[in-house]
Amino acid sequence: MVSKVTVKAPSSTANLGPGFDVFGLAIDAFYDTVTLTKTKKGITIITDDEIPTNPENNTAGLVVKNMKRKFKIKEGIEIKIEKGVPAGFGMGSSAASAAATAVAFDKLFGLRLDGNTLVEFAGSGEKASAGTVHYDNVAASVLGGFVIVKTNPLNVIRIEPPTNLRMCIAVPKIEVPKKKTKVSRGVIPKKIKLADSILNLSNAAAIVAGFMKKDPELIGNSIKDVIIEPARQHMIPGFVKVKENAIKAGAFGVTISGAGPSVIAFSKSSANLKKIGLAMSRGFADANTECQTVICKPSKGASK
Ligand code: HSE
Repeated sequence: MVSKVTVKAPSSTANLGPGFDVFGLAIDAFYDTVTLTKTKKGITIITDDEIPTNPENNTAGLVVKNMKRKFKIKEGIEIKIEKGVPAGFGMGSSAASAAATAVAFDKLFGLRLDGNTLVEFAGSGEKASAGTVHYDNVAASVLGGFVIVKTNPLNVIRIEPPTNLRMCIAVPKIEVPKKKTKVSRGVIPKKIKLADSILNLSNAAAIVAGFMKKDPELIGNSIKDVIIEPARQHMIPGFVKVKENAIKAGAFGVTISGAGPSVIAFSKSSANLKKIGLAMSRGFADANTECQTVICKPSKGASK
């Protein structure tokens, strides 16, 4: 009998422009590691990071609680969390912990759950930080690659990304609100124009085609969002310049990573990614903001 399982889950970028709450891509920029150990009773959380340790308020704690209840598991669980994904910067930090926990729980008790069920449990944990459930980050973190989240009922479609797809993510060093995702969801318009919806839909469809055809240029050129990005960009200092600079430096497309404030540029392996990163840093510097840039590629999902 296994008594301990460790799983590593990747960071992710949600939306990819027009695919709000629907698209996710696992990226190898950062990883969270979760170790679950069987104990006599209860749920305990051990971590050196600044995250809640009450299971009710902790993403991983909620996942364990929900899975324990569903599968009538009497044993206790100790959850050890090592955060690698910076929290609150739009790279699926809470989703990575939730994904690693769901996959580790499945392995610890030999449940052999399918992908959709694992995503559903991981999503139930994300509620702790985002307030609402949306599966784009968790689906990417659990399954890896590019994902399309179809809901009611939940059905995640996974597409293997092109091997030469590369991203440069710029993480600004700014203070983010405590419930950042909730705050940045609050600025989104309740009503949208039909013409805008058509534009976003055509670009979203082209992104899917780009992943199917393994074409980074088609993916990048279609990262155009006329609904969510304009409503959120004021929350990111220098966003317009960062985007413009990255495009000038050769990026195919640039947008906000998830709910921000990180900005992500899409390109391919043969491009000058360092130049794109520098161009983005200069854009932030013009707005008196420091940033960290990370060149990354698609990642596989949560694994031992
Ligand atoms: N799709 C979500 C949003 C991702 O943009 O609000 C954030 O976790």
